[in-house]
Amino acid sequence: MMERICPSATKRTFCAETPAPPGGFIVFGASGDLSQKKIIPAIANLFNRGLLENGFYFLGCGRSEMSDDDMRQMASDAAEGILEDKTEFLKHFYYTTGDYSSSDLYYKIKEKLAQIEKLHSKPMGRVFYFSLPPMLYAEGAENLGKAGLNKNGDKFVRLVVEKPFGNDLESATKLNDHLYKWFNENQIYRIDHYLGKDTVQNILMFRFANTIFEPIWNRNYIDNVQITIAESIGIESRGSYYDQSGAIRDMFVNHMLSMLSLVTMEPPASFDTERIRDEKNKVLRSIRPYNLEPTSGDVVRGQYTAGKIKDKDTLAYRDEKNVDKNSNTETFVAARLFIDNWRWRDVPFYLRTGKRLAKRVTEIAITFKKVPHLMFESMGIGELPANVLILKIQPMEGMKLFFEAKSPGTKLCMGTLQMDFNYAEVFGGENPDAYQRLLLDCLDGDQTLFMRIDDVKVAWGLVDKLLKDWKAGNSPPYIYTAGSDSFNQADNLIQKDGRCWRIIAEM
Ligand code: NDP
Ligand code: BG6
Repeated sequence: MMERICPSATKRTFCAETPAPPGGFIVFGASGDLSQKKIIPAIANLFNRGLLENGFYFLGCGRSEMSDDDMRQMASDAAEGILEDKTEFLKHFYYTTGDYSSSDLYYKIKEKLAQIEKLHSKPMGRVFYFSLPPMLYAEGAENLGKAGLNKNGDKFVRLVVEKPFGNDLESATKLNDHLYKWFNENQIYRIDHYLGKDTVQNILMFRFANTIFEPIWNRNYIDNVQITIAESIGIESRGSYYDQSGAIRDMFVNHMLSMLSLVTMEPPASFDTERIRDEKNKVLRSIRPYNLEPTSGDVVRGQYTAGKIKDKDTLAYRDEKNVDKNSNTETFVAARLFIDNWRWRDVPFYLRTGKRLAKRVTEIAITFKKVPHLMFESMGIGELPANVLILKIQPMEGMKLFFEAKSPGTKLCMGTLQMDFNYAEVFGGENPDAYQRLLLDCLDGDQTLFMRIDDVKVAWGLVDKLLKDWKAGNSPPYIYTAGSDSFNQADNLIQKDGRCWRIIAEM
C-alpha cells in the first residue's frame, strides 16, 4: 500500500508526555496551605494519570508534630475527589518532624530517605521543595548542603524554591549567592506557576508552530497589547505576607512579566530549555526601564476599599486580618511599557493586575492596527474597529478573534464577528493545574518553565527604583471600591494615549 503523503489537516496531536523517572519529593512546610492546596493534589493527579508509575515518595517535614499516618491523613484530605481508591497512593507518604534551623532535622531526613529508598529498592532522585515562608530558604539550603543532602551519587538532587524569590534586586541577589554555595543553577527550580499553565505555554505553540501569525506579530501590524490578570478574591488568609509584598511583587515581577516575555520574545532556534530562556531574557532586557521609574507617570497603583462582590459585602484591604490599618500596600497595579527592539519599538504594552476586581479573568489582548484606507466611507460606514486577538488564559481557556464581516441582507451592513475557540469544548474536561506540569518537569529535569536567575534579576532591576520610592512613602495607592472594574487614575493611564482598557466584567 502506498504511504499517505497528505495527512489530514485536522485531528493531529503530538504528545511528548511520558512517566517521570523514579524520584521523591521532600517537602518542607508540608503542613501548609500550598502543600495542601496545590502540591499534594498535583501529585495525586500525576499518580492517577500513571505518570509516577516508575516510583515516587513524598516526605513531608516541618515543625508540626506529625507521624507518617498523620501525613497520610493530610494527603488523603488533600487528594479528596481526585482518586477513587487512595490506598496505594497513600503508602508513598511519610513525615519527619524538626526545626528548619537545626541540623538534627537534616540528619533525620537523611536517615529517613535511606529507609524509604531501601523500601523502594531502587536508586531514586530527590526533589527538595521549600514550601515555606521565603525567609527560611537560605538557611534551609545551607543546612541541606552541610548535611550532604545536596548530592546523591549519580542520582539527581534538585531544589524547588517558591515565589517570591527575594523582595528586591539586592535581596534576590543575596539569596541566590547563598543558594549557589550549595546548589548549582541546573539544580535550582524557581517557580512561577503561570509558566505551568497550559494556555500560557500555548503562547509559544501558537506563535511558533504556525506560519500565519508571526509575519504580523510586530510593530507594523500591532497597535497595542493589553495583559490583564484580574482577581475577584482578596488576600484571603495571607495578610502578613501580602502586606509586605503588594501587587507588584506578588504578580507583576513574575507572572505578568513572564506572560509579556512569551508574547514578545523572538523565535528560539529550537524548543530547547536554554534557547527559550535566552530569548525570554533578551526581551526582558529590552524593556525600556524609564516607564517603570517613579517619575514616568506610567505606573498607577491602587488599594481596594470595602465593596460588594457577587452581592456579598467585602472588607476594605486595611481591615483584612494581619494588615496594617494604615497600610499603603497596593492591591492593584497598572503600567504602560515599551520594548526597545526592532520588532516592538513604540508599541505600548498595557499591563494591569489587581485583587477584588469585578471578576476573575486573565487574558492577553492583541489589538491590530486599523485598516489603512476606508473604502466603505462613501456607503456611510464610518471608522472600522480594529481586529483584536484575545489569548484567554483563564478561567475560560481559549482564543478569540474579532473581525469585521458583512451582515446578511441586501444592504451593505457590516458587523464585528467573534471567532471563538474554547479548550474545554474542543478537548473536553479541564486543563490540568499548573503544578502538575511543574512537578513532573522537576522530576524530568526540565527547567524550561522555571525562572532562570538572570530573568529574576532583570525583573527586580526594572522595579527597583519604584520599590524604593514607594517604601519612602511616595505615591500612595489610589482607593478603588472592591468589585469595581477600574478607577479613574488607572483609566487615565491608557486614555491619555486615546485607548481604553477592555472591560473586565465583559471579558
Ligand atoms: P504557610 O504560611 O502555610 O507556611 C507553610 C509552612 O511553613 C507552615 O505550615 C509551617 O509548617 C511553616 N512555617 C510557617 N511560618 C513559619 C515560621 N514563621 N517559621 C518557621 N516555619 C514556618 O505558607 P504557604 O503554604 O501558603 O506558602 C509556602 C510558600 O509558597 C511561600 O513561599 C509562599 O509565598 C509560596 N506561595 C504560596 C501560595 C499559596 O497559594 N499558598 C501561592 C504562591 C506561592 P510547620 O509549622 O509544620 O513547620
Ligand atoms: C500567586 C499569588 O502567585 O498567584 C496570589 O501569590 C494569586 O496572590 C495567585 O492569587 C493567582 O494565581 P492563579 O493561578 O489563581 O491565577
